[in-house]
Amino acid sequence: TSVGGDQYTLTEEQRDFRDVIRQLVSQRIAPRAAEIDATGEFPHDIAKLLAEQDLLGLPFDERHGGTGTGALMLCVAIEEIAKACASSSLILAVHDLGTLPIRLAGSAAMQDRVLPRYASGEWLAAFALSEPDAGSDAGGMRTNAVRRGDTWVLNGTKNWITNAGVAAAYIVFAVTDRSVSYSRGITAFLVEADRPGFAVAKLEHKMGMRGSPTGQLTFDDVELTDDDVIGTPGEGFKIAMRTLDHSRLGIAAQALGIAQGATDYAAAYARERTAFGKPINELQGIQFKLADMETRCAAGRELLYAAAARADRHAPDLGKYSAMAKLFCSDAAMDVTVEAVQVLGGYGYVTEYPVERMMRDAKLTQIYEGTNEIQRLVIGRSLR
Ligand code: CAA
Ligand code: FAD
Repeated sequence: TSVGGDQYTLTEEQRDFRDVIRQLVSQRIAPRAAEIDATGEFPHDIAKLLAEQDLLGLPFDERHGGTGTGALMLCVAIEEIAKACASSSLILAVHDLGTLPIRLAGSAAMQDRVLPRYASGEWLAAFALSEPDAGSDAGGMRTNAVRRGDTWVLNGTKNWITNAGVAAAYIVFAVTDRSVSYSRGITAFLVEADRPGFAVAKLEHKMGMRGSPTGQLTFDDVELTDDDVIGTPGEGFKIAMRTLDHSRLGIAAQALGIAQGATDYAAAYARERTAFGKPINELQGIQFKLADMETRCAAGRELLYAAAARADRHAPDLGKYSAMAKLFCSDAAMDVTVEAVQVLGGYGYVTEYPVERMMRDAKLTQIYEGTNEIQRLVIGRSLR
């Protein structure tokens, strides 16, 4: 696949890799998807499988135990997994999100110490920016760390944190200097889960993405050192923003996978289901729905892959493109999954068929990693 020359290209090696993932998904992940949703339990077996297949190492350089295959390949992997099981695909997306601050801004010593652990799957990652009273307005956070001698003392609460309870370490953003604006007074820390004073205070019960734990974290006088600081003190807000510029590609890929999975399922169903003496895909009303669904998936894929290629070649307009991809693919996922339920009629509404789960999972992609209103804000600001 090649679009516009320098936009993106999937090499033969990358297409072969995609085939390997497709096979893995159909044999090992798809059969687990309904159960993962029904039980709402984190699929440790799938995390292990992704680690064994070196997929958790996808975002990392080879010198840190990764495969060094880049953002486009990571998106392809997330998309393929999300076609069958969005919760499982979030394991990969959050592994990227929750390690990007270290990869973008961490010291060489920190990178050497922790990235191989993430690459091998020994550690699962988490990114803790949002708070009960500060989500879209991330700069309004209250969690803070104060200097006491040689240490930092961290206090506060983070909300909605994916991988709560299963992550080995959390990237936590905290105010460290109230005398300057938040864009200069927030610091990013790496907080290992066994630090005294750290707790997972509660886990949420969710509409969808039920195999991914989401929880509230509390920090009660957690002691940290300068070795736990990511980048330099005060740089945290910008590290968070730069991270999201990259990681929103993963959520776009997840949304695209959900949309394509629902489209494929609905198209196959419409071939088999008969009404008024013929398959329902002979009815133009159904054909038009399927045509719109497939078109939105194809358009989303072109935009996403072009955005991911921008990450791989360090293009300056990545933030705008990742926001557009996240916005477009998640809106497509929501609309397409609602239509997939409609194509299946009553069967679409029951848990025996996967499309109602896909519809519930799709909704989250319009909310997290910045709501779609925030994506529009980011895109709009780039046009000023
Ligand atoms: N890269 C580098 N620097 C950036 C930047 C970027 N992409 N975006 C902003 N900045 C800098 C600005 O240049 C500015 O710097 P100066 O003060 O030095 O001039 C500073 O950061 C402040 O920028 P803004 O004035 O634009 O900040 P703002 O407060 O108006 O809002 C925002 C910015 C885009 C709304 C931001 O708060 C935001 O992205 N909010 C959404 C938060 C979010 O996406 N959370 C996701 C949590 S993770 C998650 O949800 C996980 C999951 O799904 C699994
Ligand atoms: P609010 O910011 O209160 O927004 C409420 C409404 O107002 C939204 O519709 C919003 O779009 C709108 N709004 C706000 N500001 C504007 C504006 N300027 N212009 C127009 N409309 C606006 N966060 C993490 O840090 N790490 C995680 O791992 C993580 N995982 C998550 C997992 C799940 C399942 C969920 C539900 C959330 C997760 N989040 C995580 C948090 C997520 O990023 C936030 O929920 C999201 O950024 C929105 O923040 P909020 O919920 O506080 O909504």
